[in-house]
Amino acid sequence: MRDDIIFSPFQIKNFTLRNRLGVAPMTRMSSVADGIPRQDVLDFLERRAENRAALIYTEAIVTDYASSQGYPGQARLTTQRQIDAWRHLVDKIHAHGGLAMMQMFHCGRMAWPEVNPAGRAIAPSRLAPAQLNPITGLPYPLPDEMSLFDIDHVINGFVETAKGAVVAGFDGIEIHGAHGYLINQFLSRYSNQRDDDYGGSMENRFRFAREVIDSVALVVPEDRLLIVRISNWGIADMEVSLFENAEEWQEMVGLLVQTPIDAISLSTYNFRDKAFGTDQTMAQLTREVTPLPLMICGQIYDRKSVEEALASADIALSGKSILLNPNWVEDVRAGKELPLYKAEDANIAYSAEPLL
Ligand SMILES: Cc1cc2nc3c(=O)[nH]c(=O)nc-3n(C[C@H](O)[C@H](O)[C@H](O)COP(=O)(O)O)c2cc1C
Repeated sequence: MRDDIIFSPFQIKNFTLRNRLGVAPMTRMSSVADGIPRQDVLDFLERRAENRAALIYTEAIVTDYASSQGYPGQARLTTQRQIDAWRHLVDKIHAHGGLAMMQMFHCGRMAWPEVNPAGRAIAPSRLAPAQLNPITGLPYPLPDEMSLFDIDHVINGFVETAKGAVVAGFDGIEIHGAHGYLINQFLSRYSNQRDDDYGGSMENRFRFAREVIDSVALVVPEDRLLIVRISNWGIADMEVSLFENAEEWQEMVGLLVQTPIDAISLSTYNFRDKAFGTDQTMAQLTREVTPLPLMICGQIYDRKSVEEALASADIALSGKSILLNPNWVEDVRAGKELPLYKAEDANIAYSAEPLL
């Protein structure tokens, strides 16, 4: 009986997921020369499909050549060679019965200018994260405040990358609106202090997200999925609550629901944590205001935690557990005792060592 919840199919639009488990998007920094990940990184994703994950996400793919890249060796999806490399993986994921999902992002003020050809960092406002960049050990540069031209240029980057994903055959296209990257920077007063139409009220701070989603939706065919990932935390200044309270969070989700998306992916640090001083979790607060299918992620690592997470969401995504354990899906099915990995355990993801 318990088996039924996790391993029962789930319908999103025209897609039937074979179970409720998926691979969360994970950057691997392996695309050194040509914007194409190392073969072993692509093979790793294929093996997760083979292990019967229902959804397999790519790493965050960068959207434009000018300013979107936040880490060395990130992948791109706008040249035919890049499209062909991903197409090959998508075909293999399909052959194993999984759905292939592409995630794309612009890092905004989390930029490492040296890895962007234009050497630029751009953001809603001229404000840098407080903490040092852990990779360079230096402060993040003060970003340029985005002009209307910049906004338009960045939106085009999302559109071009979505087009690449469509040609590569991805079933779903996800816009990364979480983790303190560009879209999240617009949504949060912590990083958005603009006084034009893109700043101030929640409605105004949501404008950039809406324009990205609406523009991308125009190039995503009706038979593919469009998803947005959201969070209340960012990779830099992690302790900061990016939304002020539960009302503001729910107002943002309410605006998201009005856009042409098919599902929401909610990223938490720990899915069990109560949010904004309420007695509800992020998933419960989100569920309250959206009828859309909901994915949840954050310290879901064994059968019990999957079951608990699925009480307030439809799909459970795993980051570290599925990264480090190629049999994770089957181990969850078997109810095996599994470890809760720490962030440091995942550092192997950024090394040249092939993962199982
Ligand atoms: C190596 C690694 C790379 C990650 N890269 C991304 C990314 O590109 N995009 C994203 O949205 N989240 C990224 N994350 C966050 C994961 O998707 C996930 O939200 C996080 O690991 C929490 O889930 P977990 O507790 O199951 O690991 C990354 C996490 C890890 C461990």
